[in-house]
Amino acid sequence: MEKIVSLCKRRGFIFPSSEIYGGFAAIYDFGPYGVELENNIKKEWWKTMVQEREDIVGLDSSIFMHPKVWEASGHVSGFSDPLAECKNCHSRLRVDHLLEDIGVMADEKMSEEEINNIFNKNKDKIKCPNCGKKDFSQAKKFNLLVKSNLGNFTEDWDKQPAYLRGETCQGIYINYKNILDTARVKIPFGIAQIGKAFRNEITARQFIFRTREFEQMEMQYFTSPENEMEAYEELRKARWKFYMDIGINKKNLKWHKHENLVFYAKEAYDIEYNYPFGFKELEGVHARGDYDLSRHAKFSGKDLSYTDPKTNKKYTPHIIESSVGVGRTALAVLCDAYTEEEIDDRRQTTDDRSASAKVLACEQQIRSTALRHKAGTAAEMRVVLKIDKKLAPIKVAVFPLLKNKPELVKKAKSIYDELKTKFMCEFDDHGNIGKRYRRQDEIGTPYCVTVDFESLEDKAVTVRERDGMKQERVEITELSNYLVNELTG
Ligand code: GAP
Repeated sequence: MEKIVSLCKRRGFIFPSSEIYGGFAAIYDFGPYGVELENNIKKEWWKTMVQEREDIVGLDSSIFMHPKVWEASGHVSGFSDPLAECKNCHSRLRVDHLLEDIGVMADEKMSEEEINNIFNKNKDKIKCPNCGKKDFSQAKKFNLLVKSNLGNFTEDWDKQPAYLRGETCQGIYINYKNILDTARVKIPFGIAQIGKAFRNEITARQFIFRTREFEQMEMQYFTSPENEMEAYEELRKARWKFYMDIGINKKNLKWHKHENLVFYAKEAYDIEYNYPFGFKELEGVHARGDYDLSRHAKFSGKDLSYTDPKTNKKYTPHIIESSVGVGRTALAVLCDAYTEEEIDDRRQTTDDRSASAKVLACEQQIRSTALRHKAGTAAEMRVVLKIDKKLAPIKVAVFPLLKNKPELVKKAKSIYDELKTKFMCEFDDHGNIGKRYRRQDEIGTPYCVTVDFESLEDKAVTVRERDGMKQERVEITELSNYLVNELTG
């Protein structure tokens, strides 16, 4: 995990928020490559969820909603985590996590009293993760909704706060009727949206896995009661396929079935990813029955029922949900792609043309600058993000072999200017070419294009592929087609 955090900072993927002021706990900023990665994840999600589906439409609802939304959803009364304080170092800790660490499961539905009973029984086995002492306060349930004074100009605004949304799907539920009436959809259909959510998370650990401001990608699918479980099984399959399609290693994913369901749920599974701190929830895929629309119908006094046009049967639609964080997906993608490997001569294609030989010679510099695998061994290592091409922040990097040769720089610049209209590209003439390759490997760029002296004669360039480090000579007039094929084929 430390290596991922360090790479993210060093290469401009993710920075702690407000770093010049000492940081702001559990909030992160996505830098130039981080925002590209996030955008590519969101683009792929939207493509599979909305673009390729005739039965799902998109939405962008507001972050602020009527406070009653959060009463109806149950968040005001029940959206809380159990918090205890270490009496020695005053760290605030999540009691369910402390229990989980010693193999005792605490259910989120448990009352404060029930949690304290289990906590007290196990206290002698639990150490504070920060100072190692075993002296804790009693657990207290702490509500996770973030409050604001939006539109409230009184002194005691916090008695009637406006909440920053704790999940994006509530915006979907309250727009269900608008969309049903305007979007020419009929049940079964889904509504998808991507947007920010806010939670007053107690513990700020595990980098971007659990943050207080994060982005969710949620899809709520409205079905008849009879069709709910069939649609649910289809959604589960589709969600697993999504992770295969973005190149996540199947071995690092598993389904986790919820044993203690909330009273309204029909079935609930999470997709867990094998993060460096173990298998943890990446996405929730849940069959929620008619709870959400029934609650909003009750609290708003509006009729949210549906009448089947064929059978004339009236019912409250049931909902199946897919919900995943953009940050959690990005972290899974980064962990899955992060590779340290020995550079092996046999894996490099030797091309007898002199221009390629020059580039190959420069690649030797990767070795001279690469990390030593283990002290005392001669093996050289490179760090490479073997990220799926669709998600790679930069698709193609263009280099002149030497910076101080204007004719090479000019040619490389003109190639870059053409390619940048098609893909996210980078032009780089800093340092030696070995360093440039190393930098592009670390940010996961699938292709590097080098303009060398022979390019001026033979009108061709060397294209180096990231994973196999294979090099090919490609004619400049063919380069754009070649890269389109390689990147989208
Ligand atoms: N609408 C259902 C819902 O919000 P959830 O399990 O609380 O369910 C869904 O959240 C997903 O949102 C999680 O699987 C995770 O990917 C992401 N998520 C939740 N809390 C998060 C946090 N504090 N930081 C980052 N991602 C979070």
